[in-house]
Amino acid sequence: MDYKKYIAGKIKVDGVSEEEIYSSIALPPNSQMGDYALPCFKFAKVLRKSPVVIAAELAAQISPDEVLSEITAVNGYLNFKINKVGLTREVLAEIESKGERYGSSDMGRGRTICIDYSSVNIAKPFHIGHLSTTVLGSALYKIFNFLGYKAVGINHLGDYGTQFGKLISAYKHWGNREEVQRGGIHAINDLYVRFNNEADEEMEREAREYFRLIESGDKEANDLFEWFKELTLEYVKKIYDRLDVHFDSYAGERFYTDKMAPVIEELKEDGLLKESNGAQIVDLEPYGMPPCLILRSDGASLYATRDIAAAIYRKKTYDFYKCLYVVAYQQNLHFRQFFKVLELMGKEWAKDLVHVAYGMVSLEDGAMSTRKGKVVWLEDVISKCVEKAYAVVNEKNPNLENKDEIAEKVGIGAVIFGALYNNKIKDITFSYDKVLSFEGETSVYVQYTCARAASVLEKGGAFKAGLADGTEISDEEFEVVKALASFPDTVIDAAEKYEPSYIARFAVDLAQKFNKFYFDCKILTAGEGVRDFRLSLTKATLRTLENALGLLGIGVPDKM
Ligand code: ARG
Repeated sequence: MDYKKYIAGKIKVDGVSEEEIYSSIALPPNSQMGDYALPCFKFAKVLRKSPVVIAAELAAQISPDEVLSEITAVNGYLNFKINKVGLTREVLAEIESKGERYGSSDMGRGRTICIDYSSVNIAKPFHIGHLSTTVLGSALYKIFNFLGYKAVGINHLGDYGTQFGKLISAYKHWGNREEVQRGGIHAINDLYVRFNNEADEEMEREAREYFRLIESGDKEANDLFEWFKELTLEYVKKIYDRLDVHFDSYAGERFYTDKMAPVIEELKEDGLLKESNGAQIVDLEPYGMPPCLILRSDGASLYATRDIAAAIYRKKTYDFYKCLYVVAYQQNLHFRQFFKVLELMGKEWAKDLVHVAYGMVSLEDGAMSTRKGKVVWLEDVISKCVEKAYAVVNEKNPNLENKDEIAEKVGIGAVIFGALYNNKIKDITFSYDKVLSFEGETSVYVQYTCARAASVLEKGGAFKAGLADGTEISDEEFEVVKALASFPDTVIDAAEKYEPSYIARFAVDLAQKFNKFYFDCKILTAGEGVRDFRLSLTKATLRTLENALGLLGIGVPDKM
C-alpha cells in the first residue's frame, strides 16, 4: 500500500492539489514523532494562517482508522502513526508474494529510456575514471527496467577521429601482428602513446592520410581499424561480464558518418549555421555559451556534430521518453551546447535529453593522471579488490568453501558500491580498506548481513509466515518493517533523481536496522508465534537486500 497516497487522500487543503500534498509528505527525522509527517509551512501563504493552526485544524479533521493509528499536530507538522499490525502484515505478504520483484512496478510501461553509458574509446583501456559511468549507467539501466520502462543501453563508442590514422601509422612503423594480438588493447595503446612521443612531421602527414583512407573506405585501413576495435571490445566485455553490465547497442560515433549530412542540411535550412574563420558553427552567444562547432574549416565533423545526429537517430529509432547521458561533469558544456542546438532546431523533445553528470574518482594513493603517466587501469583495481576481498573473507571465516567465488562477489561488490554510495556529483577517493570494511557503510557489511540472515533461516527450518494475532511488535522490529516498506519508494526516487546511491544507502540502513533487531531480539529461541514472525522478518529482509544489491549489479554470497 502507498501510505503517502492514503494520507494525501485524507487531507483537504483549499487551493492545494492532492499531488502537492502527496509530494510534501516525508519521513520525520525521529520515528518517535510518527511514521510520516506533513509540514504545513507551505500552506501558510495560501490559507493565510500560521502553520501551527493549520496543523491543528487538519489533525482535528482526520480520525484514526485501521491504517492510521494516531494523528497529531506538533509545531506546524502533522504527524501520522501507522497501524503497526496492518503495515507489518501487508509488507510481509507483499514481499512473500513478489519475491525477486519486490520493489518493482509497471509505472514505466510503454516508455523507453535510452541510456548512453560507459561509451569506450577504441584503443584506450579503461582507467579508474571509467568506473562511474559504467556502474552508474548499468544501475540506472537495471532500475528503469525494474520499474517497467524499456531501457536501451547504448555504448556510444569513441571510434571516430584522426587518432586512428595515427594508430595505423604507428602500427605500420613499429607494430607486429602477433605481439598486438597477444598484448591486446594495452599493446595498441602503447603504440598510440609512442606515436605521440616520437612521431615526426612525416608520420603526422602519413597519419592524416591513413585517417582519410579509413574515411574513404580503403580496405587495408579499415581492416586494421576493425581489428583494433575487436581487440578493444574483447577487452571491455571481460570487464562488463565481471561487473554484470549489458548493452543493447554498440552504435558508436562512426555509425553516424552518413547521418550527419542531413543534419547539416537541416541546420542550414533553419538558418542556424554560420561561418566563422572558415568553420561552420551555431552561435550560442545569446544563451551565454561559446559557439557549437559543427564543421571544421577542412570540412571534418566534430564530437558535437555526431552527438546531434545520434540524438535525432535515437529519437527516430526508439521514440524515447528520456535519453540519458551518463558522462563526467567535465563535459557539461558540450551537453548544454548540443542540447541547445537541438532545441533551436525545433526538436521539442530536446527537453527529454538529460546529462547525468558525475564527479571524479581518484585513488587514495594519488590522483590518477594520464599526463603524469600515473594511470590506474580499471582491471587492476578490480583484480586488486577481489584479491583483498579474498584475504578479508578468509580471515573472517577460514573454513568457507568456494572462497574464490565469494571473494569475486565481495570484491566486485566493493568496487561498484564504492563508486555508487555517494551522491553521484561528488568527487570521491577510492580506498581499498574503506570499501572492504565489515564495519563501515559498505557492500561487504550488507552482504555479511545477508549471510547472517541466511544462516538464521537455515537454522530456523520451517516456520509459519506472517504475523499471528496477538503478537507484540517491538520497536526494533517495527523499524525493520518500515524500512522494508520504504523500498519501492526508494527505487522510484533513485530513478527520478538518477541516483543509484539512494538504493545503496537504503541497503546499509536496512542492514543496520536488521542487525539491531538481530542483536536485541532473540530469533531462534523465541516463543512459537514470535519466532515465526521474527523468521518472517528475517526472510523479508534478506529478500529485500538481495533485490537492492541486485539493482546495483552486486551479487550476494550464500555464506560468508
Ligand atoms: N567516449 C566519450 C569520452 O570518453 C564519451 C561519450 C559519451 N557519450 C556521448 N554521447 N557523448 O569522453
